[in-house]
Amino acid sequence: MTWKKILNLLVSHNTFVSGEQIGRSLNISRTAIWKHINFLKQYGYIIQSSSNAGYKLQFPTDTPIVLEPEELTTGIAGRKIISTITTTSTNNNAISIAENVTEGTVVITESQTEGRGRRGRNWVSPFGMGLYFSIILKPVLPVAKLPRMTILIGVAIANALKKFNIFPQLKWPNDIILNEKKIGGVLSELFVEGDIAKYVVVGVGLNVHTRSDDFPEEIRKIAGSIFTETGKSFSRLKILTACLSEIDNAYKFFVKNSGDLGEFAHSWNEIAWKKGEEVLITTGKEKELCKIIGLREDGVLLVEQGKKLKEVFVGEILF
Ligand code: BTN
Repeated sequence: MTWKKILNLLVSHNTFVSGEQIGRSLNISRTAIWKHINFLKQYGYIIQSSSNAGYKLQFPTDTPIVLEPEELTTGIAGRKIISTITTTSTNNNAISIAENVTEGTVVITESQTEGRGRRGRNWVSPFGMGLYFSIILKPVLPVAKLPRMTILIGVAIANALKKFNIFPQLKWPNDIILNEKKIGGVLSELFVEGDIAKYVVVGVGLNVHTRSDDFPEEIRKIAGSIFTETGKSFSRLKILTACLSEIDNAYKFFVKNSGDLGEFAHSWNEIAWKKGEEVLITTGKEKELCKIIGLREDGVLLVEQGKKLKEVFVGEILF
């Protein structure tokens, strides 16, 4: 994809790159460059052009879709990367190709028109503002253990953010919370044939630069981004690289540990939102007031209701 190579050149130079230089690097004509630049502009990239100096990317300068597998040090996560400027949903894209690609394949985009969240919700995915990617994994493990991967990946994302001095909490099962605002989430979808797992698609949405106005009115009180909560702009490309590296570590650990969460359950407990406090939990249609005791190593949430200890297998804690 020539447009991706041009974008890559503009991102890595972070200043004007002359038409001559682009032409020489990619072995294409001035007219071809101009066509690709217009293609990129049409999707929302802001590229300044000057007849003397060439082209300079002005927005978004941290586009994560230029990442190439060779730039990663991971063994599995990001072995193959499929980038699009816009799509319906990277989870949908990943599901449609999962059977025919190697595990670790990542689908990433700059914006989603039908981004999906947990429990049938939408995932707001404006152009250039967040990270929206899905990874296809094919663990050879008992199917019953695979839903735990959602916890595993939540912890991996939190670990990645720590590298940037961002210390989120996890709201069960894996909402990523910063200053009481949801800044990210994970949507894992498991595909099984008989009692064999065919693949798991793990979709990650992380609001990086997203502004309050980007969220619909009804979720503005609870939705945030790294920018709204820290006041700082972090590079989405760097955060993506860190996320893939942590997902890779977590996944390798999980497979080696025969599908047991081990230290990842401890990490989850350390950063659990409202642990030891009373919260509203929904497991279906009903909402129940419970005290969170903690996550067990098998991924089950233990809560206390009255004096009774209860196990919660599926559902979520409400804000
Ligand atoms: C949640 O509800 O907390 C999960 C949100 C997951 C959103 C991500 S964005 C990339 C991937 N593609 C989707 O359609 N959803 C996930």
